[in-house]
Amino acid sequence: MERKSPTNIKPHKIEVSFDETLPKHWFGESAFLSHVLNTFTVIFPDAERYFIRWAKKALPDVTDPKIKKDIQGFIGQETMHANQHEKLWDLLRSQGYNLEPALWFVDTLAFNWLEKIVPDKFNYALVAGLEHFTAMLGEIYFENPEIMEGMHSEMRRLFEWHAAEEIQHKAVAFDQLQAIDDNYFLRTGVMNVAVVGLYVLTFANTFYFMAQDRSLFNPKEWLVMGRILFGKSDLARKTVIKFLEYYRPDFHPWNNQNFHLAEPTLQAYEKSQIA
Ligand SMILES: [Fe+2]
Ligand SMILES: [Fe+2]
Repeated sequence: MERKSPTNIKPHKIEVSFDETLPKHWFGESAFLSHVLNTFTVIFPDAERYFIRWAKKALPDVTDPKIKKDIQGFIGQETMHANQHEKLWDLLRSQGYNLEPALWFVDTLAFNWLEKIVPDKFNYALVAGLEHFTAMLGEIYFENPEIMEGMHSEMRRLFEWHAAEEIQHKAVAFDQLQAIDDNYFLRTGVMNVAVVGLYVLTFANTFYFMAQDRSLFNPKEWLVMGRILFGKSDLARKTVIKFLEYYRPDFHPWNNQNFHLAEPTLQAYEKSQIA
């Protein structure tokens, strides 16, 4: 199968700006939906900085000029993602949320445990596996516009821009891993661990934020959760199907040609930056 990947991966400049007018429940007036994405805002920056460190470490070992160039674009994009999401941390704190347990956990896990204790190849495989999730989230974002309509406009701008770049660079960490070690069992074995870790962390912190809101036992929130995951949008089933693709022995991110989802957003940024 032809693996057509976007040729020019580069950061698209954005400056998001938030102030105290941001409602606590900025996504469809739902604590659950807002806090799932708030959790991503809290865990992404350090996770992305961990990805960047491994991308920089891989550069001298990767000889293919196209993959090398893609890795440089990836580093530029992830650096901007981390910086833009981090801007929200103080605002979330001022709204009364305690971000510190999740921040401590991601920082310690990434830079003290994984980076120092675990073999390099495991780290490269973990970055590739987690990038499969961010690409899935990006695809879900563009495939379900009816859900995203309920987002606060500036948050929507942030997540849409991020989703588009995640789709554009979705194969970079995968190609990087394949260039270093293309063992199927390394890739999928690490994914088995990554999926559990990511879901536990995401739901644990979402529920922790909801508990801080006193919305954890609100039946309305559980209805929203049920509707999103198992109702018309059917995100639970769609997510499982997308996730399992990674286990195909011939998997490559661009076997799924979905760049058209991201292109209009990226083109809009490119046009505004030329002008
Ligand atoms: Fe990112
Ligand atoms: Fe990414």
